[in-house]
Amino acid sequence: MDVKGLAAVVTGGASGLGRATAMKLVEAGAKVALLDRNVELARQTAAELGHGTVAIEVDVSSAESAEAAFEQAKAANGPTRICVNCAGIGGSVRIVDRQGKPMELDHFRRIIEVNQIGTFNTLRLAAAQMAAEEPLNELGLRGAIVNTASVAGYEGQIGQAAYASSKGGVIGLTICAARDLSSFGIRVNTIAPGIMLTPLLKGLPDETLDMLGKQVPFPKRTGHDHEYASMAMELIRNDYMNGETVRVDGAIRMGPR
Ligand SMILES: NC(=O)c1ccc[n+]([C@@H]2O[C@H](COP(=O)([O-])OP(=O)(O)OC[C@H]3O[C@@H](n4cnc5c(N)ncnc54)[C@H](O)[C@@H]3O)[C@@H](O)[C@H]2O)c1
Repeated sequence: MDVKGLAAVVTGGASGLGRATAMKLVEAGAKVALLDRNVELARQTAAELGHGTVAIEVDVSSAESAEAAFEQAKAANGPTRICVNCAGIGGSVRIVDRQGKPMELDHFRRIIEVNQIGTFNTLRLAAAQMAAEEPLNELGLRGAIVNTASVAGYEGQIGQAAYASSKGGVIGLTICAARDLSSFGIRVNTIAPGIMLTPLLKGLPDETLDMLGKQVPFPKRTGHDHEYASMAMELIRNDYMNGETVRVDGAIRMGPR
């Protein structure tokens, strides 16, 4: 799939992995909309990326907010043909803490709402815009979607019950959505990143980052946002990639803590 001239939505596009992917999409000639809860930062990023990139406020966990944001993106750039879902939140809480107190259910619920339901929410809206359009090529391809899980979706660490569950849900959704949307010619893939140096991690002390990097078999460092973005572009461009979750993690397999 040639992305040139196509409308792309990047959720969580203000920062980190979404921002890096938006940058590659812009470089490749796509018309990009950054959908993010942090609309101030999204505006700043859009100005930095240039080439008509627009910033739109969204809470991906809300049906109404996402519906309005996708309508705005369509009005600005035309119907969505590419959707990269990067909006997400973290958080580490044990199921039962040292004092014997159970995790607040709202902690679990919020992470599922943003990471899992949020991903499905924007996937369904992007897919509906794609399905209403004519195919882009002789294969009948109408669009491509890339979601973001995490290696925690396979081997969640202590304290990651909510996060790991949310990302496991995204991994499980991938083949189902690819099959479900195949009659429209819409491809769905997911990236499971390892430890990537984004604003999420940049606040950590150097020693901690060094320690995290050393856990990676090769290369012995944290991942770069452009390494995620490069895989996202491959999954968008390669018409035979469908229904797959690809780890981008330097072969790390997370231990219990
Ligand atoms: N950085 C890593 O090591 C790593 C590893 C595995 C998976 N991931 C996943 O990659 C994705 C991107 O993470 P990142 O490292 O770029 O983080 P980031 O914090 O730099 O970017 C996430 C973006 O999502 C936005 N966002 C959060 N909640 C939102 C909501 N409800 N609606 C709309 N936007 C919302 C934030 O404002 C932010 O701009 C996340 O899903 C994260 O779980 C990151």
